[in-house]
Amino acid sequence: MIKASKIYTKEELCLMDRVPDPCVIVIFGAAGDLAHRKLLPSILELQATGALPGEYRVLGVDKTAMTEEHFRGNVRESLGSAADSAQIEEFLGHLSYLGGDVSSPVFYKDLKSALYLLGRKHSLKGRLFYLATPPAAYPLIIEQLSQAGLSRPEAKESSWVRIVIEKPFGTGLGSAVRLNALVHTCFNEDQIYRIDHYLGKETVQNILMFRFANTLFEPAWNRTHIDHVQITSAETLGVEHRAGYYDRAGVVRDMFQNHLMQLLTLIAMEPPVRFEADAVRDRKIDVMKAVRPFSKKDLERNLVFGQYGEGTIGGKPVPGYLSEPGVDPGSVTPTFAAVKLEVDNWRWQGVPFYLRSGKRMGERLTEIAVHFKRVPVSIFHPLPAEQLSGNVLRFRVQPEEEISISFEAKHPGPKLCISTVTMDFDYRDTFGTAPPEAYDRLLLDAMSGDQTIFARADGVEEAWEIFDPIIKYAESGTNKRIASYPAGSRGPAESDALIGRYGRAWEF
Ligand code: BG6
Repeated sequence: MIKASKIYTKEELCLMDRVPDPCVIVIFGAAGDLAHRKLLPSILELQATGALPGEYRVLGVDKTAMTEEHFRGNVRESLGSAADSAQIEEFLGHLSYLGGDVSSPVFYKDLKSALYLLGRKHSLKGRLFYLATPPAAYPLIIEQLSQAGLSRPEAKESSWVRIVIEKPFGTGLGSAVRLNALVHTCFNEDQIYRIDHYLGKETVQNILMFRFANTLFEPAWNRTHIDHVQITSAETLGVEHRAGYYDRAGVVRDMFQNHLMQLLTLIAMEPPVRFEADAVRDRKIDVMKAVRPFSKKDLERNLVFGQYGEGTIGGKPVPGYLSEPGVDPGSVTPTFAAVKLEVDNWRWQGVPFYLRSGKRMGERLTEIAVHFKRVPVSIFHPLPAEQLSGNVLRFRVQPEEEISISFEAKHPGPKLCISTVTMDFDYRDTFGTAPPEAYDRLLLDAMSGDQTIFARADGVEEAWEIFDPIIKYAESGTNKRIASYPAGSRGPAESDALIGRYGRAWEF
């Protein structure tokens, strides 16, 4: 285990230490799951860590009519013992609620006056609209905000207005282009924060620090030294209560177009000139543009879809996908996919990226494994070079947050025995604290006006462009070969065969 030899204090090496302007966060869908499970606990956490200005407000918006007291009671209940009770009471004091029909212009008149009053009373400078509703409601809310004159800052009442849009951003390239066009008629790009919560995860952000605040690996970060890259996001959970959404989305829309693509771009991007939103996003988009489009042959050869059958997770029997409540019993929606991608640029030519994600797998694990090449020749006769493992650098995103590197080492003793050992950096052990929730960081950045970890319009569209043909293939009916895998397994055998065809094997 590596211990950080020195942990610099914030003052010494802190890039930013921002406290956002006094502002109001307007949560559309405030009675929903995302608001209660993620957003409200994160705002509470930000308050508890002193990251928020003294004056901030949260205005919950939803269709249900309820008093503020009732809303606060619901929030208190959902927070449970998330923080100490004094913090919770203070937090509840920052909450307001407005119920109504968000499709009606009348509602936006009420919203406008509520914001005006809150702004005056608390001297607020900004407004952050957060769309935590089902995606079908996004266009309507965006248009209504604009028609009510709420999408632009009003000199006297707010100095900035921003909008946070949750994923999925569209269901394919066409709908993403249309949604971007609509948002752009109402908001400028610098007001728009498209969320991919993977970018708020600590180890994911650490990829850029690791690559560009150190010199050790960058010279070897290319086709000369790297054999291939594996990106896996395996979940033990099934579709839970989201069958209605998931059965229409499937794993490629749900995990690949956004989360896995973001991980790939962070690993593969060129150094940006500065750690600033557009500089970073430009380089990420370069990677997406260089991803080789899938040919018909690739669809047949470099792609595997799977769907979980019944099985066992954590010693308990679980049903197969087709028996989950809300799933069409004849559904051919993939809950697992594995793909081999190539990035056609100077750095990565010939280095395959294997991406894999599935629900109801045997382990919860999100990891990027960068496999370096083996030594070209072995001096340790009679051991051939093929028996020595290449170094593997692993960014473990979850469940633990770790970076580790494996290398070959000699066993103690007179005999010449070599085996693979690992050095690792564990976030919790080193910094003595659990990494913050992704939404803490995302909300704070949106309030502070930093778009670095949010997707830009062209980035979302490029990512759809890559995965659209794969989704169309899955949905074209020609793909009747969707492989079944037992819940609790490593996915279908076909996925092992895919990577095996190229002489490699999955990490787990
Ligand atoms: C969401 C997907 O974006 O990410 C879910 O819609 C998935 O289906 C989740 O379970 C995974 O997130 P995490 O942070 O648990 O890896």
